[in-house]
Amino acid sequence: MDSSFDNVIERAGESANAWSALGAQQATIRPVLAGDGPILQAFVRQLSPMSRYHRFHGGVSELSPELLKRLTTIDRRHEIALIATTSSFGREVGVGEARYSNEDADPDSREFAIVVADAWQGRGLGSKLLQRLISHAQSRNVRRLYGNVLAENASMLGLAREQGFALRHHPRDSHLVRVQRTLSTDSSRFQPLQPSE
Ligand SMILES: CC(C)(COP(=O)(O)OP(=O)(O)OC[C@H]1O[C@@H](n2cnc3c(N)ncnc32)[C@H](O)[C@@H]1OP(=O)(O)O)[C@@H](O)C(=O)NCCC(=O)NCCS
Repeated sequence: MDSSFDNVIERAGESANAWSALGAQQATIRPVLAGDGPILQAFVRQLSPMSRYHRFHGGVSELSPELLKRLTTIDRRHEIALIATTSSFGREVGVGEARYSNEDADPDSREFAIVVADAWQGRGLGSKLLQRLISHAQSRNVRRLYGNVLAENASMLGLAREQGFALRHHPRDSHLVRVQRTLSTDSSRFQPLQPSE
């Protein structure tokens, strides 16, 4: 990682955490920054159609300029967006992305979404990203974190169940499962991952 990358992370005001999958390359989890449009677009383009479908629930092959702007313009009072990156031939490339935002009239709830590059799936990165979202939400006194998951999406449903989310029918869409977790906001505070985790 070069020093300019370090500086960018510092300007974002939040720490970056390195994490290694067992026997694999190292990934760094850091906040999404305003200039991350190209890296996010490249990340989405290289996802398999199935992963894109599970993430966006539609036939998205790349991000529209509007969506790209939305995904890189973060209102840090109410939302967080994280990107996991690794170095490939000296370039920073995205291998995972996770966020929550308040899409709901309920000010105490946040909706999350998460996606991991196909080659990185099944190695624990999705768990790390979701844990980061949960810790961050707890630190901001968010009471409920929920996601709308396609009913066929066994991986995300398994991950959500493993992290203590309850699974319910979506109130309006029979193709979706609502995964929801009530957060304890009293004692838990944001704990950055340790590099060895
Ligand atoms: C869902 C997703 C984010 C999981 O990320 P991941 O990095 O593969 O997940 P992890 O390796 O951390 O796995 C964590 C847990 O999820 C569950 N899980 C993962 N893959 C699973 C599968 N195919 N079936 C059932 N459970 C599965 C398991 O409980 C697993 O724990 P274990 O490894 O101890 O068994 C990833 O598969 C993905 O990006 N899918 C496409 C996009 C998507 O579906 N996004 C959800 C929109 S909200």
